[in-house]
Amino acid sequence: MEKGDPKPTVTESFPMSGGDGAHSYARNSSLQRGGLFNALNKSREAILANLDLRNPNFDRNNNIVRIADFGCSVGPNTFDAVKHIIDTVKLRFRQEDDVDDDLQDLEFHVFFNDQSNNDFNTLFKTLPKNENCFAAGVPGSFYGRVFPRNSLHIGHTSYTLHWLSRVPGENIGKQNSPAHKEQFEKDIENFLEARSEELVPGGLMIVLGLCISDGVPFAQTGKGIVMEIFLGCLIDIAKAGIISEEKAKTFSFPKYFPHFSEVKEAMERNRRFSVEMMEEIKHAYEDVDVGHELVVSVYRGLYHGVLVEHFGESSVDVLFDRFAEELTKCPLDDIKKTASDREYVIVLRRNLV
Ligand SMILES: C[S@@+](CC[C@H](N)C(=O)[O-])C[C@H]1O[C@@H](n2cnc3c(N)ncnc32)[C@H](O)[C@@H]1O
Repeated sequence: MEKGDPKPTVTESFPMSGGDGAHSYARNSSLQRGGLFNALNKSREAILANLDLRNPNFDRNNNIVRIADFGCSVGPNTFDAVKHIIDTVKLRFRQEDDVDDDLQDLEFHVFFNDQSNNDFNTLFKTLPKNENCFAAGVPGSFYGRVFPRNSLHIGHTSYTLHWLSRVPGENIGKQNSPAHKEQFEKDIENFLEARSEELVPGGLMIVLGLCISDGVPFAQTGKGIVMEIFLGCLIDIAKAGIISEEKAKTFSFPKYFPHFSEVKEAMERNRRFSVEMMEEIKHAYEDVDVGHELVVSVYRGLYHGVLVEHFGESSVDVLFDRFAEELTKCPLDDIKKTASDREYVIVLRRNLV
């Protein structure tokens, strides 16, 4: 393979629950949505400060801006994220004295990327109408190349990079282990490498996601506590003979929740982007009324696919019933007060050389 050719990727795929039913991601993504809205002002300021309309790599002759949302899933979040970027680009045009005519002509080509088994049908059925905006779906793992080189002006991704490309090691039965951390670091490197090829020099990449305050062990976070309860339920239903004990003991989610400093280091290691803004912000659930039912629904929306693949369809409903029962013993409001779950918002700019 020649240097610069798109890298093939071997990535496992764990789609969110599709459709728009009660357990779909589309109807159970209010926590992520809260996070997106928490970060809007910060990312808007960073886009306005760093989007250089005189950069020759922006297609000013045709006035076309190409935007991609990586790991779009299904539901309103991706549409709001894209709308926020479009509105901010228009605002940036208005800030320039000589672009009034250009603003009239401005068109947006918007790409929605996710794994090929994401429910793109529902996504496109619910796509809001927006003049001057043309949409396309791009299937494939964002841990490798999914666009031609130098083809995008602004990239966005939210609540995606804690999803690993694979469960690290064979069935290790632990969460946030050193093997998960190692996989996370490799994955971020591949993500940034691929985006640095696809974005034009001077192009911007907005990254939002989940993290933990430095110094706090995963087990003391809200996510850590709830995941532990969930993994306990797996053992319970294994003991009841509903699933294999071996499978229950060795299951681990293909996820890693990094500390903020780990995210920072991973971003700064890449030399193809400059970090224009990186902040730890409060977690979305601080503003949401997190009840037991909501947590169970969120788990269904996120993990139904992973669990069916590992344990089979028939045991998953029993598992969620058990989880709902166990979770009611857990004082969510107390966890919310003390836990150190956080989010990060980052804006990167592709270096000019
Ligand atoms: C929690 S959802 C976030 C969806 C949306 N961005 C939001 O903010 O609500 C994570 C999404 O990332 C996608 N994803 C995970 N790994 C991926 C990969 N390697 N390539 C493309 N998409 C991926 C999942 O399929 C899922 O749709």
